[in-house]
Amino acid sequence: ARAQIGVTGLAVMGSNIARNFARHGHTVALHNRSIAKTDALLAAHGDDGDFVRTETIEEFVGALQKPRRVLIMVKAGDATDAVIEELADAMEPGDIIIDGGNALYTDTIRREAALRERGLHFVGAGISGGEEGALNGPSIMPGGPKESYAALGPLLESISAHVDGTPCCTHIGPDGSGHFVKMVHNGIEYADMQLIGEAYNLFRDALGFDADQVADVFTEWNGGELESYLVEITAEVLRQKDAKTGKALVDVVVDAAEQKGTGRWTVKSALDLGVPVTGIAEAVFARALSGSREQRKAAQGLASGALGAKPTDVAQFTEDIRRALYASKIVAYAQGFDQIRAGSDEYGWDLTPGDMATIWRGGCIIRARFLNRIKEAYDTNPDLTSLIVEPYFREAIENAIDSWRRVVVTATTLGIPVPAFASSLSYYDGLRAERLPAALTQGQRDFFGAHTYERVDMPGKFHTLWSGDRSEIEA
Ligand code: 6PG
Repeated sequence: ARAQIGVTGLAVMGSNIARNFARHGHTVALHNRSIAKTDALLAAHGDDGDFVRTETIEEFVGALQKPRRVLIMVKAGDATDAVIEELADAMEPGDIIIDGGNALYTDTIRREAALRERGLHFVGAGISGGEEGALNGPSIMPGGPKESYAALGPLLESISAHVDGTPCCTHIGPDGSGHFVKMVHNGIEYADMQLIGEAYNLFRDALGFDADQVADVFTEWNGGELESYLVEITAEVLRQKDAKTGKALVDVVVDAAEQKGTGRWTVKSALDLGVPVTGIAEAVFARALSGSREQRKAAQGLASGALGAKPTDVAQFTEDIRRALYASKIVAYAQGFDQIRAGSDEYGWDLTPGDMATIWRGGCIIRARFLNRIKEAYDTNPDLTSLIVEPYFREAIENAIDSWRRVVVTATTLGIPVPAFASSLSYYDGLRAERLPAALTQGQRDFFGAHTYERVDMPGKFHTLWSGDRSEIEA
């Protein structure tokens, strides 16, 4: 046996990761349900390095050095369970199975427990960066038993992206934690994409820019604090021309956003954990609204009411949008990091949020210059309460706040939807409010359900006898 790693599931992500391993000098055993894919990979890229072609699972497992390390790159769900079952039967105690797909973290918890019973290590690893990242250096978020990282970490770190010499890969925590943080990563990805979409919408509908003009703005922004992969590719997508019509591609694509589920999972989990990830939730719902084609058709022509005037100072409004985007983006990341902390507490994972800031700086879809700032914030204060109260982010929002309000007001008076900009601003105002209307909610709950309330001036739980003499009793 001579292979250091095996990859099963050779669709584009699996193929590219296998090639990445080979290019880094590792011998890679290849396996795929249909041998045609394996042969296609070898025919096209066999020169990338040292591959071992295998046809059956037994042959595949037999080609691996011990402890055997197998990376599964198949569709999340039943397909993953089926492959795990076959592998587990052929493997021995101490061997490591890595699931590199976008698995639901609760599935990963279940699988890790089941395989542990059989003496096998199961590592649920979030892998981000798309096809290109898989080939040239993704961000990798491996969870699972710490002891398996000794045998696996160096291999994964060798193929991951690096920033300032630091690999974008680290052991995240036990069982499902790797897939949990990858899920939250994708939630933030959704929020970031939605915010960028709202900025584009404002340029188009409030300032009358065409796609090329908006592309120029994003290119410029990518030279500043907004520098990020998503801002960069936004300009490229906006500049793309449609060969059939000559129009901008973005103007001929149907405006109904699809989703495979990770954003939705993030919000479901946040609901259970009680973490207000409002930016991510708005992003998921905005995709759902865009896809509600029948309702949208029925609503065409509904009254807008009296609309305000369009902004006349183009440069000023452009800068307002930039600042609103930056502030809203800070909120989205702050909320995502809150969810990571809450998940860590709930499952007893003992995660280090600063690790995520470090490994998301390169390779992944949400890589961005400002993740360096988040890393610094966690380096200074590993237990920080919320990113938005940290000095750098606090100042960034203070610089942006007037612009942020102007953007939301202008969008509202022009009838342009900005759910993520607006809800992020409301979240910020809610968080910093001295008194929230929640006191009234508590009063109502006590009125109809005797649910009790706390007082600002003494400890304990109280109830007002609403249907009696309305005196207060201690509950
Ligand atoms: C990544 C991406 C990747 C995938 C998304 C797409 O980190 O590399 O997030 O995992 O492209 O899951 O998600 P939707 O299809 O739900 O937009």
